[in-house]
Amino acid sequence: MMKAVFLEKPGGHLVMKEVNIPVPGPGEVLIKMKAAPVNPSDLARIRNTAAGHDLATFIPGIEGSGTVVVAGKGILPRLWLGKRVACSSEYPSSGTWAEYMVTKAGNCFPLSEKINDEQGSMSLVNPLTALAFFEIIKENNHKAIINNAAASALGRMVEMLGKKQKIPVINIVRNQHQTELLKNSGSQYILDSSSFSFIEDLGKLSHDLKATILFDSVCSRQLDNIIDALPSGSSVIIYGNLSGEEHIMINPRCLINNDIKISGFYLGRRAKKNGLLKNMMNLREVGRLMSSDMKIKIRGRFPLDRAQEAVDTYLVNMSAGKVLLVM
Ligand SMILES: NC(=O)c1ccc[n+]([C@@H]2O[C@H](COP(=O)([O-])OP(=O)(O)OC[C@H]3O[C@@H](n4cnc5c(N)ncnc54)[C@H](OP(=O)(O)O)[C@@H]3O)[C@@H](O)[C@H]2O)c1
Repeated sequence: MMKAVFLEKPGGHLVMKEVNIPVPGPGEVLIKMKAAPVNPSDLARIRNTAAGHDLATFIPGIEGSGTVVVAGKGILPRLWLGKRVACSSEYPSSGTWAEYMVTKAGNCFPLSEKINDEQGSMSLVNPLTALAFFEIIKENNHKAIINNAAASALGRMVEMLGKKQKIPVINIVRNQHQTELLKNSGSQYILDSSSFSFIEDLGKLSHDLKATILFDSVCSRQLDNIIDALPSGSSVIIYGNLSGEEHIMINPRCLINNDIKISGFYLGRRAKKNGLLKNMMNLREVGRLMSSDMKIKIRGRFPLDRAQEAVDTYLVNMSAGKVLLVM
């Protein structure tokens, strides 16, 4: 038997239950889990699943780390047997918030000795997204970028990669506390979206720096004004919905007159398109970065039976660092 986290009822609390340890099928592996973060995408998945799937079988948790202890049939599962891996779950049939998880061997990537289990548990979702953003920036020859929700773990990775690659990053945060946080870690361009002159400041700075791509995970009602302030020909990449707004209004005239392009980004889709080899290469790069500059701040660690407390702690101050479930 194993312990795992479940949602007791739609809109209810996370609870720990004992269930049978799953058995890997062909192409799959069984992982003894070590750590898994609480990410915004986990909370979105919990909300969506509560609305439409079978809660009796749904275990939350998209990414994590652990050791492969049983291999199903196939070359890749056998290759990973005994290895410490970063892994992602196979929704909705598995989740990382459990003592054991079965997933496809293709969802596992061996961790280098330089990365511990905790950092390794966060090495897929955000670091790979940050790398993908810089691929997009280079493919389209953008000279500078705008990074919304810049105090997030991913936002800080974008800032760090911008510095490394000498691409100016305009960081948008939502309060003075986050401004100080970023100032103290050496960010040059920081704009507070709650300040009176925010839109005017953004317009001026984005034109001065030729920042023609906005990465936005907030998607608030302010987006309309933000887009209006961007240089002509800019691209807007929507990759999150932290505001929780279901619909926002965008002025069509601004899109037409300023030749603005809006598109969505989802790492899962990009990873599928990349294929195993490219993903392995990106993971190697992530390993290199995480063993030097790209350390993710950890704010708290909780056992599985305190998963609800882990989520509540995380939600009080998301910028303070990641909250991990440890097994
Ligand atoms: N599309 C994809 O493939 C993909 C991949 C990776 C990540 N993401 C998205 O990237 C975003 C960041 O993830 P993360 O793990 O880096 O987050 P994180 O470290 O947990 O931090 C979340 C940040 O967002 C801020 N925030 C929360 N609600 C906000 C709002 N309504 N307006 C402005 N800021 C708000 C928080 O500020 P406070 O501290 O003030 O709460 C915090 O700074 C999430 O939306 C996530 O879903 C998407």
